[in-house]
Amino acid sequence: MYFLGISGYGHDSAVALVEDGRILAFVEEERFNREKHTMAFPEQSLRWVLEAHGLDLSDIGEVAFYAKPWRLIGARIGRALRYLPRSLSVFTAHRPGNALRIVALGHYLRNNSLPARRPPSFRLRYVHHHLAHAASTFYLSPFEEAAIFSIDGAGEDMTTWFGFGQGTRILRRHCVRLPHSLGLFYSAVTHYLGFKPWGGEGKVMGLAPYGDPERYARDMRDLVRWSEEGRFTIDLRYFEYHLSDWTRWVSPAFEQRFGPRREPESEMTQRYQDIAAALQLVLEEAALALLRHLHRLVPSRNLCLAGGVALNSVMNGRLVREGPFENVFIQPAANDAGCSLGGALFLAHAAHGAARRAPAEVVYLGPEYSGAVCEAAARAGGLIVERAEDVTERTAALLADGKIVGWFQGRMEVGPRALGNRSILADPRDPAMKDTLNNRVKHREGFRPFAPSVLAEQAGDWFADVGHSPHMLLVYAVRPERRAQVPAITHVDGTARVQTVTAAANPLYHRLIAAFGRRTGVPMLLNTSFNVRGEPIVCTPADAVRCFLGTEMDVLVLGDLVCRKP
Ligand SMILES: [Fe+2]
Repeated sequence: MYFLGISGYGHDSAVALVEDGRILAFVEEERFNREKHTMAFPEQSLRWVLEAHGLDLSDIGEVAFYAKPWRLIGARIGRALRYLPRSLSVFTAHRPGNALRIVALGHYLRNNSLPARRPPSFRLRYVHHHLAHAASTFYLSPFEEAAIFSIDGAGEDMTTWFGFGQGTRILRRHCVRLPHSLGLFYSAVTHYLGFKPWGGEGKVMGLAPYGDPERYARDMRDLVRWSEEGRFTIDLRYFEYHLSDWTRWVSPAFEQRFGPRREPESEMTQRYQDIAAALQLVLEEAALALLRHLHRLVPSRNLCLAGGVALNSVMNGRLVREGPFENVFIQPAANDAGCSLGGALFLAHAAHGAARRAPAEVVYLGPEYSGAVCEAAARAGGLIVERAEDVTERTAALLADGKIVGWFQGRMEVGPRALGNRSILADPRDPAMKDTLNNRVKHREGFRPFAPSVLAEQAGDWFADVGHSPHMLLVYAVRPERRAQVPAITHVDGTARVQTVTAAANPLYHRLIAAFGRRTGVPMLLNTSFNVRGEPIVCTPADAVRCFLGTEMDVLVLGDLVCRKP
């Protein structure tokens, strides 16, 4: 049976297609409509997953939606009533009709213009939001049994979810509900620091190592109190997110305590960096305390992580090093987009008993384009095109020569990190590369670091205590004696957000890094997502050509075509 999973009517909408227990496709709507973290309903994604597999809506047995609408409505009404009159804007916010659209989703799907040879007969099932997060990580993990930790802003009325998985079953053990949310706490301070919530959190994480966490640690710890019983509370005197539909964030009391908020794009001062550092510290401390409680509830050796907060790779690194679990798996689309995958997998495994498959590296599940489409896009962009006999050797030579390369290959990767199929690549040895890339290619803030892709078999020579990190969601220390060799990927605190690359997961990318390693003695590349600031990662060859022409990248490699600007 075919299962569709949908994340929609919230940020990061996406669609997944699963056949019994096998994942066929996953894509985020932002890649098609080119609006980062889009809230648009994933129409184009739906069309693509069906068309790419020769299916239409009448072939679909069940559809999973990533939240329960009545719980969403109930949570909102409950929250509004509890904090009246300050909470009136919960009702008048910008998307009050969404919950009703979710209720009518089945009708909408049957009556929109999606192709169907026969009248569709799918059954629509609403999956609890955190259950979808939990399923998205547990069913992709290599574990037969594991503790599961889902942590985000909020899903329906829950913000933190503790549970376990065994075989095809997933069960909840404990949860924390709104208004207490570590995700919204982090997003609120992100907004205070002049960045956009639901997107800017990663910037704050990158900023934190420039600050002194101790300066504001006591103040920040005052705002979040956690207990041994897996509970935590946010001091709501300092926040307003719960009074609004996620449009107001910190309260005047917060600004009285920490000083005025930073205007977006204004100067970044030491005070803001110190606040970012304290915020990151308190998130890590609270998450560690919660994880210890989860381990008491579920004393497994294995942990599966998901939820938007699990994109915080610095926190993840600490949970791996200091937490009570031996083995940790984090799903690449830990954010809400991944819930589409989790919802579909939950129906297949938990509801229909489909057997779990041997875990594959489920990363490259998006659209791919033929050589002819790539060539046509390059020619339409006026590029000088040349076919490489050995594209990895050729590209490695260009990279070793200091060239910045747009690297576009095969199926697009899952999640917000480029993992070697839609990447901008550069030489990690060049001390000026970080500034060059930030200023001339990515057009983004100078403090933001770049990450390395390293051959898995040699990762230990370069990073301390490095484990399996195929999804670039864990931060490790660069070995002190190696830091001067790879300045472009070493962050100010001596760490790096590492992607370990195996030949099994991505043979072509592995060959490229190995070729670069043979030439330079450094078996890694600087890997940043193929996009400019504020734009989603490129999806089509035409997107790649447009991005290439709009930046000072030197070379664009589309499949085996090496393209230059005229
Ligand atoms: Fe979520």
